Amino acid sequence: METTRGTPAGQSSGPGTMNAVRQERYGIAPEHLLEVGRTDRPAPRDGEVLVRVRAASVDRGTWHLMAGRPYPARLVFGLRRPSFRNPGRNLAGVVEAVGAGVTEHRPGDEVYGIASANGTFAEYAAAKQDKLDRKPANLSFEQAAAVPVSAGTALEAVRDHAEVRPGDRVLVIGASGGVGTFAVQIAKALGAEVTGLAGGAKLDAVRRLGADAVLDYRRDEIPQGRFDAIIDIAGRRPLAQLRRALTPHGRLVIVGGETGGRLFDGLGRQVRAALLSPFVGQTLGFFVNRESGADLRALTALIEAGSVTPLVDRVFPLADTAAAIRYVIDGKATGKVVVTV
Ligand SMILES: NC(=O)c1ccc[n+]([C@@H]2O[C@H](COP(=O)([O-])OP(=O)(O)OC[C@H]3O[C@@H](n4cnc5c(N)ncnc54)[C@H](OP(=O)(O)O)[C@@H]3O)[C@@H](O)[C@H]2O)c1
Repeated sequence: METTRGTPAGQSSGPGTMNAVRQERYGIAPEHLLEVGRTDRPAPRDGEVLVRVRAASVDRGTWHLMAGRPYPARLVFGLRRPSFRNPGRNLAGVVEAVGAGVTEHRPGDEVYGIASANGTFAEYAAAKQDKLDRKPANLSFEQAAAVPVSAGTALEAVRDHAEVRPGDRVLVIGASGGVGTFAVQIAKALGAEVTGLAGGAKLDAVRRLGADAVLDYRRDEIPQGRFDAIIDIAGRRPLAQLRRALTPHGRLVIVGGETGGRLFDGLGRQVRAALLSPFVGQTLGFFVNRESGADLRALTALIEAGSVTPLVDRVFPLADTAAAIRYVIDGKATGKVVVTV
């Protein structure tokens, strides 16, 4: 691959090639790792759709893929070097071509979803047809690209694992982040009374998303015995503290929480929760997003009904993908960060 640091996004590439982000090795600093240059366009395989990417989004998972952290993830991502060289997963764009057996999408369709391994910080990316849905009619490409992984995770956490019902009192920890801004809206759409916990500067945004109450994690105590469900997206809080905030039969769903640990990155808390759950009145657990097409279609419906709207904080050009990732990992984003191509 011919590589040019900082090739301007949108500059047209020759036939069969494209501008794309690439990394040759694992590393924790995107600005020392990611390069934008020319590479071959992917070709859609059987059951895959080739998308002309208009926008892609960044989340914490982007950094984990890029860094190969925690280390056990390298068993999947590639042991010594990343097996996929572009950490983008979410996309919104226009169908360019389809592989054999694709019946759901046609060239010219506007779609959004999760790409196959070749990465979405690029002019073109391939995705399995069932990982795409038509772009919601009321969203721009930038907004749509913000949805798939973060909103899918929030939907699974709130609807399936916390089993939120109308009238439930729900606490969202990390309510101002990529997953949290969706979790607040989805819990409200399911009829819950929602409290959002985040840092002070971002609490107004959480209120505007529909939260009934907000708490500042730097200042406020979490009330005890109050919540039917806690969605812990940014936890580092001890399990015992979270259990005290739940009702006796409340549900705790641990989505994530960055500890920076190289080996387990806080996973010990998730495992302890699942092991303890059978022995207590509360339900405690964690999950890994199944990235299902059915969930994406459910999100399309929620978005088109006006119940969920992605909160996009900043949009960066492809050439500044490293800066976009830096903005997220430095905790500056409220909601989602998007890269336009
Ligand atoms: N289980 C899964 O399949 C799955 C899927 C996706 C993501 N995740 C994980 O979920 C986590 C969050 O991802 P994200 O994309 O939403 O990250 P994000 O956009 O960076 O959001 C992080 C959120 O955490 C809040 N926060 C930071 N420190 C906190 C504290 N001490 N107490 C309470 N809240 C705090 C931040 O609030 P302020 O910005 O206001 O400080 C922000 O709202 C990550 O660990 C990610 O790996 C898991």
